Amino acid sequence: MPKWVWHKLYGAVGARLDGMIEVVNFTKRFGRVAAVNDVSLTVKPGEVFGLLGPNGAGKTTTIRGMTGLTRPTSGTVRVAGFDVWREPVKAKGAFGYIPDRPYLYGKLTARELLRFIAGLHKLPKADSEIERWLEFFGLTDFSNELIETYSHGMKQKLTIISAMLPEPPVLIVDEPMVGLDPRAAKQARELLSDYAKKGKTVLLTTHSLPVAEAVAHRIAVLDRGHVLAEGTLEELQRRTSEERSGVEGNTLERIFFKLVEEEELERQRVKDAA
Ligand SMILES: Nc1ncnc2c1ncn2[C@@H]1O[C@H](COP(=O)(O)OP(=O)(O)O)[C@@H](O)[C@H]1O
Ligand SMILES: [Mg+2]
Repeated sequence: MPKWVWHKLYGAVGARLDGMIEVVNFTKRFGRVAAVNDVSLTVKPGEVFGLLGPNGAGKTTTIRGMTGLTRPTSGTVRVAGFDVWREPVKAKGAFGYIPDRPYLYGKLTARELLRFIAGLHKLPKADSEIERWLEFFGLTDFSNELIETYSHGMKQKLTIISAMLPEPPVLIVDEPMVGLDPRAAKQARELLSDYAKKGKTVLLTTHSLPVAEAVAHRIAVLDRGHVLAEGTLEELQRRTSEERSGVEGNTLERIFFKLVEEEELERQRVKDAA
């Protein structure tokens, strides 16, 4: 459909249809240091968006801005059209959040926790869904044990289930594969891909190039609080291979190091000129 027809049909709600997650000029300072500096991103329905960057790049801070856990120093974040800071209840109704470290109440069993969540969301067919999820991650035999007895990986699996059980339109995931064994990591990758295929919106952060390459439709490369580049893997490949030829391979790893290297050179140029 031509773009103008799309606009005529959906113009009124275009903003919401266009981006389920909209980060606009988001900056977060801690004292004098900007952990995230003027980041803008849009994530569309049906998309897995990867926020990729080394440790300390500002990924978790960006996610905390998206989930209303930290107040932007400036800029806005909207989820499903709602300003996360100004309309937190509406925004929070639209997303599930999987933090980088599981925060679960240890004095419940897994089954109790999941029933509690199902009750909060008034989910139909909750019991069969809960059993299906426990089975999927191999937790059935442990489902009546207290969560405080769980290993890190088991807690991580339970956190994933807790966020996905209510089937929110948007899923925000911080370093999903960390702490999972290879089999569970593969399952998690497939879960996120399948979730987007259902028309849901998925944003994940990762410091792992293979993870971004395997699941993300679009990628933003974040370094020291700045977005260095954004696009599909193919677009990033094109961008970095046009700028300098003669470098072998087109893996995300090469692209990533190239972008970081360009950024370094630019920083040096600015320094030299000063
Ligand atoms: N609450 C905080 N107070 C001070 N500095 C912080 C705080 N949270 C994060 N930072 C700093 O912000 C930068 C980005 O951190 P973070 O967003 O956790 O990066 P990432 O998730 O990409 O590893 C780091 O330099 C970190 O030390
Ligand atoms: Mg982090």
